[in-house]
Amino acid sequence: MASSLAVCRLHMRGRGSLVRSLRRVETFLHRNIGTNVAAAEGDALRKEETDEKHGRRSLYAVQAERQGEATRSVLINCSPRTNEKKFLKFLSRHGEVKKYFFYESYGMYAVVEFTNRESVASLLEEAAIPTVSHEALVPFKSRLLSLKNVDSAGSTNQQYQPQTTAPINQLIQRLSREESIDRQVISLTESYQLTEENSRLRFLVCSLLQDIAAAYFPECTIKPFGSSVNGFGKLGCDLDVILDLDGISGRKAKTPKSGLSLEYQLKRANSERAVTQSILSVIGECVDQFGPGCVGVQKILNARCPLLRFAHQPSGFQCDLTANNRVAIKSTELLYLYGQLDPRVRFLVFTVRCWARAHGITSSIPGAWITNFSLTVMVLFFLQRRSPPIIPTLDHLKGLAGPADKSMIEGNDCTFVSDFSRIQLQSNTETLEQLLCEFFDFYSTFAFTKMSINIRKGKEQNKPEVSPLHIQNPFETSLNVSKNVNATQLGRFVALCQESSWLLHQSETTRPTGVTAGNTPRPWGLAALLQPSQVAEIKSRHKRRREPASERIKSLLESLKNNKQPKKS
Ligand code: GTP
Ligand code: MG
Repeated sequence: MASSLAVCRLHMRGRGSLVRSLRRVETFLHRNIGTNVAAAEGDALRKEETDEKHGRRSLYAVQAERQGEATRSVLINCSPRTNEKKFLKFLSRHGEVKKYFFYESYGMYAVVEFTNRESVASLLEEAAIPTVSHEALVPFKSRLLSLKNVDSAGSTNQQYQPQTTAPINQLIQRLSREESIDRQVISLTESYQLTEENSRLRFLVCSLLQDIAAAYFPECTIKPFGSSVNGFGKLGCDLDVILDLDGISGRKAKTPKSGLSLEYQLKRANSERAVTQSILSVIGECVDQFGPGCVGVQKILNARCPLLRFAHQPSGFQCDLTANNRVAIKSTELLYLYGQLDPRVRFLVFTVRCWARAHGITSSIPGAWITNFSLTVMVLFFLQRRSPPIIPTLDHLKGLAGPADKSMIEGNDCTFVSDFSRIQLQSNTETLEQLLCEFFDFYSTFAFTKMSINIRKGKEQNKPEVSPLHIQNPFETSLNVSKNVNATQLGRFVALCQESSWLLHQSETTRPTGVTAGNTPRPWGLAALLQPSQVAEIKSRHKRRREPASERIKSLLESLKNNKQPKKS
C-alpha cells in the first residue's frame, strides 16, 4: 500500500523525491518477502537501514556478505513430513541457527545458515556415510546432506519458499488489477525478481562447487555473475558462475624489487585459452564424477568463452561455469552499478526483459535471438538518450574513476568508477509509464540499418559492419554483442515494439474503472503487452485463411504500415 501511494505521487514531485519514493518501494519489495527466519531478521533490517543512509552498497560488499553466509550454510534434503520444531532442535545441538528456509525441487530441501562456521564442521562430523546394498558410492563428503528419521514421521507444518515464477496468466491477472502502469511495472518486478532465499541458494551452490574445485585449487573462489547478481535476475534464470583463480595465478602478485625470493614451478601451456580449457575439462570431470546433485555435465570448451554446462538438481539451477572470464565480471559490475544509480533503471530493464521473454524475443536456447545482455544494453542506451539523461555514459563513468578502479583486461580498458557518491545524476522526472512507452517508441523508429548502439558514448554511431543489429560491446569495443541476431529476429523485435507502443497509447481509453478485488478486469496497460502478440497472430491467421480482422487490429496494422502512432483518444 505504501508503495502504491509513493508511486501515485511521482508525477507531482521533483527528481530527488521521485528517486526516494521508488527506493522506498524497492526496499518495501525486498522486506515484504515472507521467510522462516529464526533470528537475525531485526538485525538485517537495521543493517539495511544503515546502508540506505550511507548510500548504496557495492557489488563487492553484497557478494562478500552472501559468500560469508554461504560458507556457514548447509543444504539438507528432508522428508516433506519433517517436523520443523524437531528439525531445528536437532540442528541447534551444533550451534545457533541464524536463518533457514524450506523449498521444493525434486524433493524437499532446507537451506540452513549457522551463526558460526564451526557449527557446520560439527554437523558434518556427525553425518554418516549411507549404507547401500546394491550400488557403490563415491565417498566425496560435501555440505549437501539428507535428513534421516528412524522414528515415525511427524506432522508437516513448514512453509515452502517458491523458487520459480507463477505462470504468466496469473501474472497478467494480477497486473490487470493494478491501478496504474507504474504500479504494474513494480508489481511485475515484485512477482518475478530473485527472492532473498533464491539469491542465498545461488551463493550456496557456488560454495558447494567451490568445495569440489578446491580439490585442485584450494585457494580458488567460485562466484556468481550475470543476472544472478546484476539486479535484473528473474526467478528461474540460469546460474552463471566463474572459477576465479586470480588469487593464485600471479595476476595480483607483486614482484620483489631486490633480495632473494622463491617462486613456484608451474607447467607451461600454449595460451591462456588452452589453460582455461584444460582446467575446465578436469573440473568438469570432477563435477560429473564426484559432485553430488550435479547431472548432465557438458564440456563446451571450443566456444569463444569455454564453459561447463550442467544442472544442479537439488537447487534446480542450470549452471554455466566459466574461468578466466574477467570481462563478463566487469560487465556484471557495470550493469549492477547502472541498476543502483536510479531505481527506474532496474524496473525498466526488468520489465523489458520479461516482456521480451513473454514474446519469444529472448530465449534460453542459443540461436539468432536477442540475448538478455544485449537487451539490457539497449535499455541502458535508451535511458542515456533521455533528455535530460537518466544515466551517464560509460565514458563519463570512466572519467570519474579513481586509481583503484583502473582495470585493463587483455588490452581492453575496463575502467569505470566504483564509488557511487562521485556520480552526479541529472534531474529527470519521467515516470515508469512514460519511460516504458518512450522505450517502445524509440526502438520502433530506430535506424538499425545504419546505426550502432553505443553506451560508451551514449550516442548512436555509424555501423562498422553489416550485421542487422549492432550493439558495441562496452569493453571489447571492436566486438558486436548482438552479432548472432538475424534480420528476422530484429524485425520481430521492431514489430513488437510498434505494437506495444500502440497498445500503450490506447491504454488511456482501455484502463478499466471500478475494479474491485476479486473481479478480474480485461488485461490493460502492461498486462495487455504480455499477452500473445496480436500482430503475429493476425499475420499468421491471414496466411492460413483470409478472415476479416477486428476493427482494433485493422487500426493497429494500418498504423504500423504508416509507421505512425494512433492518436490518444
Ligand atoms: P539471463 O541468463 O538470460 O537471465 O541473463 P544474463 O545477464 O545472465 O545473461 P547471460 O547468462 O547470457 O550472460 C551472463 C553475463 O555474461 C551477462 O550478464 C554479461 O555480464 C556477460 N555477457 C553475456 N554476453 C556477453 C557479451 O556478448 N559480451 C560481454 N562483454 N559480456 C557478455
Ligand atoms: Mg545468465
